[in-house]
Amino acid sequence: MRKKIVAGNWKMNLNLQEGVALATELNAALTADKPNCDVVICTPFIHLASVANVLDANLIGLGAENCADKVSGAYTGEVSAAMVKSTGAQYVILGHSERRAYYGETAEILKEKVNLALANGLKVIFCIGEVLEEREAEKQNEVVKAQLEGSLFDLTAEQFSNIILAYEPVWAIGTGKTATAEQAEEMHAFIRSTIADKFGAEAAENVSILYGGSCKPSNAKEIFAKPNVDGGLIGGAALKCADFKGIIDAWKA
Ligand code: 13P
Repeated sequence: MRKKIVAGNWKMNLNLQEGVALATELNAALTADKPNCDVVICTPFIHLASVANVLDANLIGLGAENCADKVSGAYTGEVSAAMVKSTGAQYVILGHSERRAYYGETAEILKEKVNLALANGLKVIFCIGEVLEEREAEKQNEVVKAQLEGSLFDLTAEQFSNIILAYEPVWAIGTGKTATAEQAEEMHAFIRSTIADKFGAEAAENVSILYGGSCKPSNAKEIFAKPNVDGGLIGGAALKCADFKGIIDAWKA
């Protein structure tokens, strides 16, 4: 059975003290009222070690939002997958549309990052999704398929078992304009069939596919109710404990 997951992506928000305070608050809230799903928070690099100290690792997973495409050495300002792992983090987000659009991350670069993350024992939350013009031209399926092929299709089925996919239509990120539950389901089913064709039926059954893009407590339940939606990757609503918990609770009856 594949995992149900709610993951937060803090992006470039909250200073260290604010981040530790939010993690502490969330840890207390979920200790008092246990979640029905896996919960992960992905934070800026500088928060990781401090946040790891305040989380109950059995209750909340921890991840980075990126890692380098090189092992180590003279790459000023970069943070390697091994460094991420050494903080106590277990996950890393790769391929977020903001990294692709603003920092020029190509399929080829992402392939290197994925390989290094997996080699260092991190689970990868790999993001895919089309921009508005692509959806309007009804090209979303081919765009998403090319993103999967370009960065993940050289993996073995064993390596692929450490990948979580996140479908984030770029037009729904931070816009307040969420995909409908039907649009999410349609794409998630397509993604799962693409994975089945490449890695086999078992891998497709087992991979968690998260939806991301303006997910809120008010719409999470309807989206998560779809058979191919296994949870969410949450931006803005992950920055407030009550909102994030509201989305986590969407998995409760
Ligand atoms: P929002 O939830 O703020 O739309 O962001 C989604 C996202 O990009 C998560 O990675």
